Amino acid sequence: MTIRFLVNFGLLAIPIGTTLGVLFGIQSHRQATGQAPLFVDNGVSTDTYCQKSYGISPPAKGLEYTLNPNQWGWTEGTPGSLCMNVTTFHNKTYPTSTTAPPFSVTWKYPPGPEDAPVHAFPNIRVDSPLLPVSLDSLQSINVDIAWSYAVGNRSASSTDVAKLTDSSLNANVAIDMFMDSDKTKAGDSAKAGYEVMVWLADFGAATQPIGLAQGAVATEIVNGTTFSLYGGQNSANQLYVLTWVAQDPVEKLNTDISPLIKRILATSNDKFPKSSDYLGYIGLGSETLWAQDFVTFDVPKLAVDIHTSASA
Ligand SMILES: *[C@@H]1O[C@H](CO)[C@@H](O)[C@H](O)[C@H]1NC(C)=O
Ligand SMILES: *[C@@H]1O[C@H](CO)[C@@H](O)[C@H](O)[C@H]1NC(C)=O
Ligand SMILES: *[C@@H]1O[C@H](CO)[C@@H](O)[C@H](O)[C@H]1NC(C)=O
Ligand SMILES: *[C@@H]1O[C@H](CO)[C@@H](O)[C@H](O)[C@H]1NC(C)=O
Repeated sequence: MTIRFLVNFGLLAIPIGTTLGVLFGIQSHRQATGQAPLFVDNGVSTDTYCQKSYGISPPAKGLEYTLNPNQWGWTEGTPGSLCMNVTTFHNKTYPTSTTAPPFSVTWKYPPGPEDAPVHAFPNIRVDSPLLPVSLDSLQSINVDIAWSYAVGNRSASSTDVAKLTDSSLNANVAIDMFMDSDKTKAGDSAKAGYEVMVWLADFGAATQPIGLAQGAVATEIVNGTTFSLYGGQNSANQLYVLTWVAQDPVEKLNTDISPLIKRILATSNDKFPKSSDYLGYIGLGSETLWAQDFVTFDVPKLAVDIHTSASA
């Protein structure tokens, strides 16, 4: 884990990470040689990452996560920008063994082409040794999430939908999961056969789940929120996408979301995942289409805990 951490920070040498990488290098040398640590702050630092698409994996004593600005639909040098702030604890001990580093994303992109409007999916994903898990052994996926979206470069304590609408925000907030009959492919977002998303918010008319035109194929109430399910093949025709969309934005969610997967498995549809398939990937992020002002997506709290009948 230390090696991966050093490799990741090594890659960051240009343009932002130099100071941090060097500092951490010095720090571990000082610790190894018994000298007092250089850090004299509260043991927390926030670092900014604006790269197009490589991930960073802050070391943690509990569950590790990888964060990625992931500006896959944006070309460097064209209008638009996105930066991700990641807060890490130097002692690697977060409030619980499954708590993620807090992060925020400040971005602005102009509208893209109608058939490819998404510029980025800044996200955090679980690096769990538990994954992949077979869906028939899946007992629960407990998530504890708090997020907000705000106009401007600062995070807000709550989301003001009217202000976001005035700034033409087109984006969602999504839990993202990948599944496949092959264990390895299930963990690879580019190779998996199924993507299952849970949209906790859906801002702007352009932010539409695949299959919206065909109408919802199921609804399910989870912890008081009604979710509607849409499904369809993605445009590259490589993946079947199922999206549960919350009726209203859910800024806090502390519950087991596995009923949304179990409901899909119980719906006999040849195109949907089956209980013999594997869940290989779980993350949370925001698909960013466009906004006319800078907006900030903040995730001060996230913890993901997966239980299977084998591990229960
Ligand atoms: C680790 O650091 C955080 C942030 O400074 C602090 O709140 C926490 O108490 C520390 N935990 C341990 C076990 O030192
Ligand atoms: C917001 O941040 C962007 C870059 O991330 C910067 O270009 C812009 O000037 C900032 N706006 C304000 C009002 O600080
Ligand atoms: C992200 O970090 C930058 C650099 O420290 C800071 O200027 C900015 O305000 C931070 N953004 C948020 C949303 O806290
Ligand atoms: C459902 O949500 C409420 C807050 O709205 C929370 O207090 C409760 O613990 C949640 N229930 C479960 C089963 O997670």
